[in-house]
Amino acid sequence: MTYKHISALLGCTAFALTAFAAPVTPFADNNGQIPPSSEYSGPLFKLSHSYPSRAPVPAMPWRTAINNGLITTKNAGAYADALKAAVGRDMRVLIEDYANWNAAKRGWYNEPWLGAQREAIHGMYVGNGMLDTSLFKASGLTKPMTTYVLTYYDKTAAQTLQRVWKTTAMQPVITTASTQFPEGALIVKASFITADPTVWPVMEGSQAWPLYITVDATTGGYKTPKVVNTYFMQFDIIVKDSKSAPKTGWVYSTLVYDKNASGKTVWDKMVPLGAQWGNDPQANSTTDPSAPLVENWINPAAPPYGSETLGWGGRLSGPNDGAMNDIAFTVGGKQQLVKNAQDSSCMSCHSTAQWDVKNGRMPSFLLPATSNPPTTAGPDGNYLVSPAPGSAEWLRWFQNRKGTVPMDKGSVATDFDMVLAFKSLPAWYGATSGKKAQLKAADPAGKNRVMMYNGKELVE
Ligand code: HEC
Repeated sequence: MTYKHISALLGCTAFALTAFAAPVTPFADNNGQIPPSSEYSGPLFKLSHSYPSRAPVPAMPWRTAINNGLITTKNAGAYADALKAAVGRDMRVLIEDYANWNAAKRGWYNEPWLGAQREAIHGMYVGNGMLDTSLFKASGLTKPMTTYVLTYYDKTAAQTLQRVWKTTAMQPVITTASTQFPEGALIVKASFITADPTVWPVMEGSQAWPLYITVDATTGGYKTPKVVNTYFMQFDIIVKDSKSAPKTGWVYSTLVYDKNASGKTVWDKMVPLGAQWGNDPQANSTTDPSAPLVENWINPAAPPYGSETLGWGGRLSGPNDGAMNDIAFTVGGKQQLVKNAQDSSCMSCHSTAQWDVKNGRMPSFLLPATSNPPTTAGPDGNYLVSPAPGSAEWLRWFQNRKGTVPMDKGSVATDFDMVLAFKSLPAWYGATSGKKAQLKAADPAGKNRVMMYNGKELVE
């Protein structure tokens, strides 16, 4: 992904603040643009935000699946299967039977403050503005694509949303205690893409969801929103589990759609790509590429496209996640430019989730970068200026910290939660602080966005 594309990702946070002239309310369902009945007549997204203040301690069948021991590369497959089974009954309905989906009734919840970014039909917003064809050459992606995402917190996890946002979501409580998730908390995230099966054959037979959108890298986008089909590609399931994964307290797993998998329905054909429970800080994958990873498991049976965009040294990341980027760095006084460098992973990126309460920002960038706001270099200015891969500075992004320990002193760690630290807190801060918004974008049509980051213009 080039820096421009990363910026598009940042820019969509910004979108919330200025785009449509909808009133700024924390619990808006959508951006105010409702598809005309000539284009769509099904159910619309309802934000689920009656966060519970208490919930019983949940059953944790994923622990039983590994005999209540530690997760390892040997048993991670059984663990990932148990996570898929645990959410399956509900997620089948969400994905395959939308008319019967009722999140509140089933005990799944959304974060506040993102309404201005959500399209009306499924409540999705842009995950990655553009993933280009160079990332998925081997699997035959013929046009760039945009990804759209939707996140749900289960009852156990939503107790944290209640502690942070209370009932009004106007004065979030950001402390080390309030942001921690209880054991057994599950958070899921679905990713759909704008590339259809004619553009990327790996999507044959996948679930289509119509979305009412303007940003579409596959077609070039639309001046005014249009109902277009997007296709189900990736489904993340993460769980707070300090018993199985004591070093970080979390297990990250993701499923990818496999058209050749057995099973009758699309949900059946979602195959674990892998699991991660730490960043393998002992393995310097640049200086010693063969150093084994012991806190990452990649499923050898997953479809090959899933592994085209793994993170540093093969650490887990999914096709939606942007763990490969064009970077510029200096070694021995010489600048090097590398396209599609593996520079992140699920838990590397999420371990940057923190909030500097005083200044209303995340202090370090989410990818290894020499500054925040990050700078760019290279002939087209599209390379993110990064510490040298494998250097001490780079390794700050690949440590194992618990969710109570911030990456930078003086900030509050948000227990790996990126929607909170990277999306909803910035949106809340921008809407309510009266100060210059942390992130601001200026083109309601979603094209040629000017992105501001901490007051500095980054990209047009
Ligand atoms: C380069 C950064 C990056 C990588 C890599 C990444 N994520 Fe995320 N993730 C984010 C951001 C930013 C958000 C919040 C914005 C959004 O909703 O898309 C997020 C949100 C999520 C959420 C919603 C809950 C939360 O913590 O905010 C889940 C679940 C999730 N990611 C799982 C994963 C999994 C599993 C992987 C690896 C397979 C992964 N992520 C890789 C950046 C990343």
